[in-house]
Amino acid sequence: MKIFAFVAFHMIGWVQAGSCFQSRDHKPTENTTAATIFALEYGYPLLVAWDAIATATINNTGLNKLRINDELAGAGDKFGIYPNADTLYAEAIFDLSADIFTLTVPEVDDDRYWSFSFFDGFGENYAVIGSISGSSFGNYTLRWNPQLNGQTVVEDKGTLCIESPVAYGSLLIRILVRNNGTDLAQSAKIINGCKLTEAGPRPRAAFDNTPPLSLATFEGLPENATGVLELTARTLNGFPPINVTNPRAVDKELNVAGIHQGSYSKPAGVNLTAATNVVIEAIANYEKTCAFFSLGNGWKRFTTVGLFGADYVARAYVVAQGQESERITESLYTYPEGNISLAEGEAYLATFSSKPPIGPTGFWSLTMYQNGFLVENPINIYAVGDRSNITYPDGSLVYGTGSSSSNETFQILVQSAAAPPPANWTHNWLPSPSNYSDFSVIFRLYSPTPPLVNGSWPYPIVTKIKAITA
Ligand SMILES: *[C@@H]1O[C@H](CO)[C@@H](O)[C@H](O)[C@H]1NC(C)=O
Ligand SMILES: *[C@@H]1O[C@H](CO)[C@@H](O)[C@H](O)[C@H]1NC(C)=O
Ligand SMILES: *[C@@H]1O[C@H](CO)[C@@H](O)[C@H](O)[C@H]1NC(C)=O
Ligand SMILES: *[C@@H]1O[C@H](CO)[C@@H](O)[C@H](O)[C@H]1NC(C)=O
Ligand SMILES: *[C@@H]1O[C@H](CO)[C@@H](O)[C@H](O)[C@H]1NC(C)=O
Ligand SMILES: *[C@@H]1O[C@H](CO)[C@@H](O)[C@H](O)[C@H]1NC(C)=O
Ligand SMILES: *[C@@H]1O[C@H](CO)[C@@H](O)[C@H](O)[C@H]1NC(C)=O
Ligand SMILES: *[C@@H]1O[C@H](CO)[C@@H](O)[C@H](O)[C@H]1NC(C)=O
Ligand SMILES: *[C@@H]1O[C@H](CO)[C@@H](O)[C@H](O)[C@H]1NC(C)=O
Ligand SMILES: *[C@@H]1O[C@H](CO)[C@@H](O)[C@H](O)[C@H]1NC(C)=O
Ligand SMILES: *[C@@H]1O[C@H](CO)[C@@H](O)[C@H](O)[C@H]1NC(C)=O
Ligand SMILES: *[C@@H]1O[C@H](CO)[C@@H](O)[C@H](O)[C@H]1NC(C)=O
Repeated sequence: MKIFAFVAFHMIGWVQAGSCFQSRDHKPTENTTAATIFALEYGYPLLVAWDAIATATINNTGLNKLRINDELAGAGDKFGIYPNADTLYAEAIFDLSADIFTLTVPEVDDDRYWSFSFFDGFGENYAVIGSISGSSFGNYTLRWNPQLNGQTVVEDKGTLCIESPVAYGSLLIRILVRNNGTDLAQSAKIINGCKLTEAGPRPRAAFDNTPPLSLATFEGLPENATGVLELTARTLNGFPPINVTNPRAVDKELNVAGIHQGSYSKPAGVNLTAATNVVIEAIANYEKTCAFFSLGNGWKRFTTVGLFGADYVARAYVVAQGQESERITESLYTYPEGNISLAEGEAYLATFSSKPPIGPTGFWSLTMYQNGFLVENPINIYAVGDRSNITYPDGSLVYGTGSSSSNETFQILVQSAAAPPPANWTHNWLPSPSNYSDFSVIFRLYSPTPPLVNGSWPYPIVTKIKAITA
């Protein structure tokens, strides 16, 4: 995966301060330097994130083709970073500029989480269909409508359709796996029933000369400001600005910055190094002051994810962290504030005061990562959550068949794969690296309710303890 070296990003906890929305939904300027700064903030996610996702997927699977994973991710999985171990997933990079497609959503059994999430190249999660929105199964027409001005149409006169405001984009499908045994076959059947099929050419207007997306779109781009602006230029037709009040103003400002007809040329007098420094500073300042919202008990979430509107600095920062973040109505990813690490003989104990209040078809998990990948361990457990057969201290199940309706304190033990705890902890054990190197965790909550998002539900209290061994 390409890493674009504007800033070395790192995830450090900060308490939210003041008003953080930095709207750039302003009137365009004739000032080429100001316009260049705008264009760099605007186009940044294309080179820092989409370039890698799109080239890897197109190269690996092809364009407009679903890359289906019908097994859960494991420690050997290195295609993308921070894979989840909860769902099967399928992904595609699509180009709707020349064709119309049929997207087949197979029938999914009740109460099973599923989603089809659509992103543009800037990480805007512009449409989602799935269990949380109560979407229908069946064949959807997937087509580009450049006249939409940012809106997505999900149904058209009673027929299922996804009318996309952008021509290019990515699709991410997730199907929940309840257990990696008997339920895997059922989930696999569903994910294999997902299809993206060409359904015919899209009628083009005479003025519509949107170029096809291909690996050539990404060829020869330097990994610096020039590369950002060139890729912004090459994809502007396929990625018209969406979810902003004045898309024309964006186009105009990009034009002042030197983006014309699919390529970039630097206006005379613009110092790209100086403009880049301003952008780096804006993003670094965002990281320090606004990027995270504290949920209490040492947990944080990104302040803004999934839908950024005109908050381009937030978008640049969050997307550079390497994940396609969904809108918060779909999923909530939370992280420990500050660094976590364990020395030999140590463990973390996460004490939950109650079950997290997730909504219908929701689920939750705590997943272990080392350098963005799942961590090898003797029991093949990469995540612990509501499908793990976790137990209360008295040994009774917290969730699932045979669980009582009680909703009280339970604990998850984060302890090295090299130091297995006594048997009664097995289902509550999230193994950390056996060599005691640095790791990170993501506490994912799908179908989050407001108390999870605003932190009024007490997040688990995490304490460092002596390792629990037999
Ligand atoms: C153009 O914009 C830059 C960056 O905002 C600013 O420093 C400069 O003073 C502006 N120039 C003029 C002539 O307004
Ligand atoms: C495409 O994949 C091949 C083989 O997997 C690799 O050698 C090549 O570098 C890849 N090209 C791009 C543009 O990612
Ligand atoms: C799922 O089960 C298979 C077969 O037992 C095992 O190889 C794999 O590691 C398991 N994966 C996960 C994520 O538990
Ligand atoms: C859905 O579309 C696929 C692909 O075009 C087709 O094979 C299938 O028959 C369609 N299903 C229905 C119910 O129309
Ligand atoms: C980016 O790199 C290319 C190729 O090395 C170079 O031509 C261009 O001037 C560089 N741009 C900046 C802003 O440094
Ligand atoms: C461009 O800006 C950089 C950083 O502020 C500065 O070091 C450099 O001298 C400037 N270049 C020119 C040609 O003014
Ligand atoms: C547009 O973005 C804003 C964030 O600025 C978000 O709150 C809003 O829901 C988005 N609207 C749509 C239709 O995507
Ligand atoms: C966290 O780790 C980073 C990188 O190792 C280090 O620079 C930083 O100072 C640490 N932060 C705290 C609060 O310990
Ligand atoms: C468990 O208790 C918490 C805290 O009161 C509450 O938010 C949550 O909805 C409860 N969950 C269930 C499944 O009862
Ligand atoms: C939980 O228990 C059920 C029923 O015994 C079993 O099918 C499933 O595989 C178990 N899951 C895990 C993660 O241990
Ligand atoms: C395991 O047993 C010990 C000793 O009885 C108890 O303190 C602990 O809470 C139990 N852990 C779990 C997860 O049941
Ligand atoms: C621990 O193991 C990981 C994964 O194999 C490796 O990347 C890392 O360098 C190791 N760290 C140490 C301190 O040995």
